[in-house]
Amino acid sequence: MKVLVIGNGGREHAICWKLVQSRQVDQVFCCRGNAGISEVAECVDIDMNDFGSLINFVKYEWIDMTIVGPEAPLSRGIVDAFEKEGRRIMGPVRAAARLESSKVFSKDFMRKFNIPTAGYKVFSSYNQAEDYVRMKGSPIVIKADGLAAGKGVIVAGTVDDAISGIRHIMKDRAFGDAGNRVVIEDCLFGEEVSYMVFTDGDTILPMVSSQDHKRIYDNDRGPNTGGMGAYSPAPVVTPEIEKQIMNTVMLPVINGMKKEGIKYKGILYAGLMIRDGNPYVLEFNCRLGDPETQPVLMRMDSDLMNIAFGITDGRLSETELKWKDEAAVCIVIASNGYPGKYDKGRIITGMEDLKKEKDVIVFHAGTSFNEEDKVITSGGRVLGVTALGKDLKEAKEKAYKSVNRIHFEGMHFRKDIADKALNR
Ligand code: AMP
Ligand code: GLY
Repeated sequence: MKVLVIGNGGREHAICWKLVQSRQVDQVFCCRGNAGISEVAECVDIDMNDFGSLINFVKYEWIDMTIVGPEAPLSRGIVDAFEKEGRRIMGPVRAAARLESSKVFSKDFMRKFNIPTAGYKVFSSYNQAEDYVRMKGSPIVIKADGLAAGKGVIVAGTVDDAISGIRHIMKDRAFGDAGNRVVIEDCLFGEEVSYMVFTDGDTILPMVSSQDHKRIYDNDRGPNTGGMGAYSPAPVVTPEIEKQIMNTVMLPVINGMKKEGIKYKGILYAGLMIRDGNPYVLEFNCRLGDPETQPVLMRMDSDLMNIAFGITDGRLSETELKWKDEAAVCIVIASNGYPGKYDKGRIITGMEDLKKEKDVIVFHAGTSFNEEDKVITSGGRVLGVTALGKDLKEAKEKAYKSVNRIHFEGMHFRKDIADKALNR
């Protein structure tokens, strides 16, 4: 069978890496891929938002399954376009992807179906938003309604910061139309986790828990990034909390969608705050997390292709998920300057030797080749060095030992990934 993966980051490298292990898979294509992905898949140079060209490619190559990595094509309706042409594709339709692409939709949906989340109000007027923040005080959270590449959320410690956040979104229009409305929400405290499930719209199969590290510097300091590292499992998610997440979050979403006339298929990712043993939803994503996918898929013992077919064909109930007992830790190595303007074109060394390491995979995110075919940096997040170990401590040690063998000019990584779990 042939499969096409859409995307070019560490998450997509992990998906491709997992797919080539499936006995059912003969060939993996990736649009557009990166240097690491090109070692396991054939990279295809098509714009991921050009659905017409993608569908032509899928027809021409007789591709059996397409798996979508990032949110942008999902929010633009790639699944609707493929399904109209009778093509199998794993992901939610556009109307369902609004859970991620519109914070207003997502909050209103949670309110309607009684899903635990922070109290909030929606504003389309700058002046009213400012008045509300002055009335409420700080800390307070400001969110642009639409997609903003992870930069549309400001957790404001002071009223001034909150107001400058609203100005940035609504007046400076930093995210364009995505900032026509803002959600202003109460600040939640607790421990954050990522919880992802596969669903065909009826059956829900949970993945193992994981935890991301959003800030650029150690001890959660500095600006937010796409994620600087992740580990799995997240010990804060006890079996009891897992039950609660399923009963108070995942099931109500899938059932609520049904009531709205929408079958939610694909991945549902809840970013949660756990406080006093209760989960509260910070956000939903309609895709796998990056970098959470890297440790989670390293722990998966099931065939990802079976799961994909279970989802697209509504047969997920016949599929079983198996996980390794081992833990996994992923350390992201970023370019100098990230998450701001960053360097590109730096030659990366030290990765070749790591291919011999058992239990360590260097997933590529922002990499490409130079004219001499050397692997160079081409993005903000460059690599996700991921290791399996008998527990988080061992996985962390293996991951950092490997990170220390890699080099490129200006490389930056956090030194405290998984410490939160280890110091509990
Ligand atoms: P989001 O994209 O909505 O997940 O927001 C990005 C990050 O902002 C989250 O991962 C949290 O760290 C933080 N955040 C979002 N909403 C809240 C909230 N209500 N209270 C505290 N922190 C929040
Ligand atoms: N790591 C956070 C996300 O994928 O949204």
